[in-house]
Amino acid sequence: MKKTTSGIIGPGRIAKRFAEAIKLVDEAELGAVASRAGSRAWNFAKIHGIPTAYDSYEAFAKDPALDVVYVATPHGYHAEHSILCLQHRKGVLCEKPMALNAQEVETMIHAAVTNQSFLMEGLWTHFLPLMREVTKLCKSGKIGTIKYIRSDFGTLFPFDPSSRLYNLRLGGGALLDIGVYPLYLCLHLLGEPENIVAAGRLSPTGSDESCHAILQWKDGQSAVVSCTLTCATSTTVEISGTEGMIRIPNRWFGCDQFEWRRTNGKTQHVQLEPMVNGFQYQIREVTSCLEKGLIESPSLPHTFSLLLSRALDTIRKQIGVRYEQEESAKVPS
Ligand SMILES: NC(=O)c1ccc[n+]([C@@H]2O[C@H](COP(=O)([O-])OP(=O)(O)OC[C@H]3O[C@@H](n4cnc5c(N)ncnc54)[C@H](OP(=O)(O)O)[C@@H]3O)[C@@H](O)[C@H]2O)c1
Repeated sequence: MKKTTSGIIGPGRIAKRFAEAIKLVDEAELGAVASRAGSRAWNFAKIHGIPTAYDSYEAFAKDPALDVVYVATPHGYHAEHSILCLQHRKGVLCEKPMALNAQEVETMIHAAVTNQSFLMEGLWTHFLPLMREVTKLCKSGKIGTIKYIRSDFGTLFPFDPSSRLYNLRLGGGALLDIGVYPLYLCLHLLGEPENIVAAGRLSPTGSDESCHAILQWKDGQSAVVSCTLTCATSTTVEISGTEGMIRIPNRWFGCDQFEWRRTNGKTQHVQLEPMVNGFQYQIREVTSCLEKGLIESPSLPHTFSLLLSRALDTIRKQIGVRYEQEESAKVPS
């Protein structure tokens, strides 16, 4: 069996987790890593047993040994680095959020289609056994018709203007970094909302330190999503239907259990396989798509990333966050 060979751009915090996860997938291996500094690439390669290291993203993108690249740089560079790899006919698994805005996501999809190269957003939560089971339960009608979703993600990251989380050039802000998870959940279960009303509070750099949104769908469903970098919040989910409710506990986005309460009073605790790393499920999806010669995942298609990025744009416009890159590009309008 030929293994799928992956490369990593940006050997930072999340790249480490990806490098550990790939060891859990028999059909995948790491072939190279690229850093803007050769020493960081070689150190990372040594720690994770990767055969090749590059001090240039451009040289890395040309490596013929690589089938797919994991783009693990800050979101302000997702589009640039993904397109570089797509143009060299590499598949791309791009960390969430896919890019800074919908216009960038469209450009990335265009590059994937033009070069017939695979592109998927690294929304690892979507591929967890948790989401598979929760989705199945919701689609089966066992909680009736979904009427309301409440979902949050809050964690304390003290203000630091140079950090990826607050620096606008790097794509700083709570919404794009962690708000993307509760928003993903709502759009995955209910599709495109008819209306979004949002409010947020900006940090001294102009990035959002907190953001809250109410979503409404034309059939009467609604959702409340919240995210903040200023304090830890319950970081839980409730999906309420006419015949029951699903409750996912703390750190729901990477959880291995949930509770299913029926309206008649019975509550079932559902325990899934214990969470180990969690990135291996999305890596298996990428490997399977590449084996089939696909350029997108049927489970998490390009249209979903576009939908998600448009909702993020709508919210961001209302709370008044604009990225430096958009000042010249004039998006979102
Ligand atoms: N799925 C998840 O659970 C999860 C969790 C955390 C983060 N993420 C996502 O992963 C991405 C990276 O997050 P991270 O926390 O790993 O970031 P990070 O450690 O701050 O940065 C990742 C790497 O990006 C490279 N980079 C390239 N251009 C850069 C620039 N202009 N400024 C700073 N670094 C630059 C750096 O590597 P070199 O300089 O060595 O090339 C750096 O080590 C983000 O988009 C984030 O949303 C996902």
